[in-house]
Amino acid sequence: MVNLEGKTALVTGAGQGIGRDIALTLASAGADIASLDVNLEGAEATAALVRTKGRKSVALAGDVSNAADVDRCVAEALAGREQIHFLVNNAGITRDNLLLRMTDAEWESVVSVNLTGTFNVTRAVSRSMIKRRFGRIVNISSVIGIMGNAGQCNYAASKAGIIGFTKAVAKELAGRNINVNAIAPGFIETAMTRALPEERREAMRRLIPLGRFGSGEDVARVVLFLCSDLGGYVTGQVIHCDGGMVMA
Ligand SMILES: NC(=O)c1ccc[n+]([C@@H]2O[C@H](COP(=O)([O-])OP(=O)(O)OC[C@H]3O[C@@H](n4cnc5c(N)ncnc54)[C@H](O)[C@@H]3O)[C@@H](O)[C@H]2O)c1
Repeated sequence: MVNLEGKTALVTGAGQGIGRDIALTLASAGADIASLDVNLEGAEATAALVRTKGRKSVALAGDVSNAADVDRCVAEALAGREQIHFLVNNAGITRDNLLLRMTDAEWESVVSVNLTGTFNVTRAVSRSMIKRRFGRIVNISSVIGIMGNAGQCNYAASKAGIIGFTKAVAKELAGRNINVNAIAPGFIETAMTRALPEERREAMRRLIPLGRFGSGEDVARVVLFLCSDLGGYVTGQVIHCDGGMVMA
């Protein structure tokens, strides 16, 4: 049931981290991949890895918060194809600060990339999905968007916004056979979490019932489920991928 051959996925923020793992996991299941990232070098490196799996691959340089960039990238991704079948809105940033110290720039950049970026790319890609009456959209939120976190009001607001956006668009596009879901990852092992002192990591680990940080592949496998036929009857949901850290 997990065979994505003949299908194309566009993954934002695919130049490193979780986005790269998502691109490679979907490619391993047979999908061709368009890797969109503000960092072209990273996107090209991901595209090269996808090609080693025998899949077609294109690297697109663009900023998801810029609607003109997004429209150009989506047109490039669509060149010679009928449609993009899977969209994964993964690009995201943090600019942490306490509320009273947070600058306008810190607030605006996080909301623009994480939330407006998700809107820009979804609007651009869903046109071809609506025409072909098929699509799967997966938005990467965060447990922080559900439970909040001191010092991250911009990030929490953007990730909570993604959840509301996901549910509204899921209702709007369901009649066109387009499923829209969000994933809320918990602590995922990345360069950022690896750099933390061991006592801090241990304190974080104690909050996770499964007793370990997640990996990019853990998140990617949930994306794969939602894109495959296995996830065909799931829409408008927020799937936690957090080792049990937040139980709704
Ligand atoms: N790492 C975690 O523990 C964790 C937990 C929950 C949610 N998330 C979410 O998962 C996603 C990926 O996180 P990650 O840890 O892999 O991050 P990362 O910083 O390693 O990778 C993010 C990628 O997005 C790209 N990017 C940033 N701004 C962009 C823009 N404006 N346009 C296009 N691309 C842009 C970056 O160049 C980078 O390649 C993010 O949305 C993040 O909020 C991560």
